[in-house]
Amino acid sequence: MSLQAAPAPGKQATTWWEDAVIYQIYPRSFADGNGDGMGDLHGIKSKLPYLQNLGVNAVWLSPFYVSPQADAGYDVADYRDVDPRFGTLQDFDAMLAEAHERGLKVIVDLVPNHTSDEHEWFQAALRSPKGSRERDRYMFRDGRGENGELPPNNWESIFGGKAWTRVDDGQWYLHLFDTKQPDLNWENPEVREEMISVLRFWLDRGVDGFRIDVAHGLVKAEGLPDWAGRESMVGDVKNPDALEEAASTEPTPPYFDQPGVHAIYREWNKVLAEYPGDRMLVAEAWVEPAERLFHYVRQDEMQQAFNFDFLRAGWDAERLSASITESLVQAGKVGAPSTWVLSNHDTVRHTTRFGLQDPTQLPKGVGARDEQPDEALGLSRGRAAILTMLALPGSAYLYQGDELGLPEHTLLDDAVRQDPAFFRTQGVERGRDGCRVPIPWKSDAPGFGFSTNDDGASPWLPQPDSFARYAADTQVGKPGSVYELVRAALRERAARHLGSGTIEWAPAHNPSGGVVSFVNGSVQLIANMGGSPIELPDGVVLVASAAEAVEDGLLQPNNAVWIEA
Ligand code: GLC
Repeated sequence: MSLQAAPAPGKQATTWWEDAVIYQIYPRSFADGNGDGMGDLHGIKSKLPYLQNLGVNAVWLSPFYVSPQADAGYDVADYRDVDPRFGTLQDFDAMLAEAHERGLKVIVDLVPNHTSDEHEWFQAALRSPKGSRERDRYMFRDGRGENGELPPNNWESIFGGKAWTRVDDGQWYLHLFDTKQPDLNWENPEVREEMISVLRFWLDRGVDGFRIDVAHGLVKAEGLPDWAGRESMVGDVKNPDALEEAASTEPTPPYFDQPGVHAIYREWNKVLAEYPGDRMLVAEAWVEPAERLFHYVRQDEMQQAFNFDFLRAGWDAERLSASITESLVQAGKVGAPSTWVLSNHDTVRHTTRFGLQDPTQLPKGVGARDEQPDEALGLSRGRAAILTMLALPGSAYLYQGDELGLPEHTLLDDAVRQDPAFFRTQGVERGRDGCRVPIPWKSDAPGFGFSTNDDGASPWLPQPDSFARYAADTQVGKPGSVYELVRAALRERAARHLGSGTIEWAPAHNPSGGVVSFVNGSVQLIANMGGSPIELPDGVVLVASAAEAVEDGLLQPNNAVWIEA
């Protein structure tokens, strides 16, 4: 069977995003241009040559808007301005212009599900009475119980604890995330108009697209009914395994993936179409099964959705091949490209996950008291996984540091943690700080060169000593480094149009035996996820995951190669 993402076989991609490799920048942790210990837009601009040299097509910036940073910027207080920690609107324009000059597209993050509690709308809502126009922009409700002392329903915050907070006059407001992230009311036309106006603000400035935060969450079920599934999840917050189990067996909660969300994206699709160039929307939607996820990328909705099923497959040939097949089948049905991703700012880095006893685990953070990964094993598998991902048709996402093989910081002191999920679960979830540690640019500079200013403040999160081994200056231009591996793969991927290709499973493909192998145009990928060396098919090795990947004509476990097909 041949599997393709859009476009149709033999047709070259017609828009830049169909086959783009998109690099996620987490601004506070990428590069610090002013020496305050936090990354910023100057820092990003200064590293654009590094990204151009790597060969990615676009960058996606996590939020840099005005924000009290209660959730690292995913709590926006002003959607139309840059937080002074990150720079100014002029800095943004300068960064955007330079990215465009270098042939890089720029995607920004839009957070439409909730604002910060410091947003002027929420401040006005707090000052205004029950039933007012100001309150109707958010999800205010009376409580249950004799005196309204109980929350309006049993929903729990994704970060732990109740999803409701009570205000002075006794009403409650909904926040699916932190108390400082009140949910907007998407039934209110003013909210819809405002977000379209925000889209236009950034489209007018020239951005090429938006990553839509919690895209599946905007519309809530009529009447905000209790959710049986959620009760069991909260029941035992001390037992994360029980949480995971409940989460995966319960039906969709009444606050996610409601049919009404799609009308919003149809409207946005029309707004984008008014602008020249191919502007795009990519959905962050943790929706299952794949068929429902791909509803978000029907022709008149968004252009892409993150493929978290692929991310969750872990280092496991059977799960990975099933995910690839299903993704391409569903993508084909709606005529959208599939996407692929291994890591982001919300998940434990794949190099670390793949070094755990069970490399299909997706823990909610790793701390000093948890199982520690086999770093070398995880790195070897991480290199092979990137090679596998980049051979697939469609669009691929890299998270900053993936190109260095960077691991999670698994030994962070709890005292420096900042993720609200850590605090709201009383530390049961270690949280996401470990994947957000500032990037090491120079192996022997203070803060590993995170601040371009050598006597700058220490990075906002401490880096482990091991980051010296991963620093960019030890990798760029050094044969055999992860950076040069990714660069070589990106070069071949572009030259051979793998992004707009079609795949067929190769005769060597044997998922139950730990082997993933497919042919995409002139390249055959073969990845050894099993425990013993395997015969390599005939052909020239174009790219190998490591110098020792092939020995005596055998592909070693935990490695992958591209062979000229
Ligand atoms: C998304 C973001 C995550 C954030 C959450 C709330 O999942 O990726 O970082 O905490 O939304 O905005």
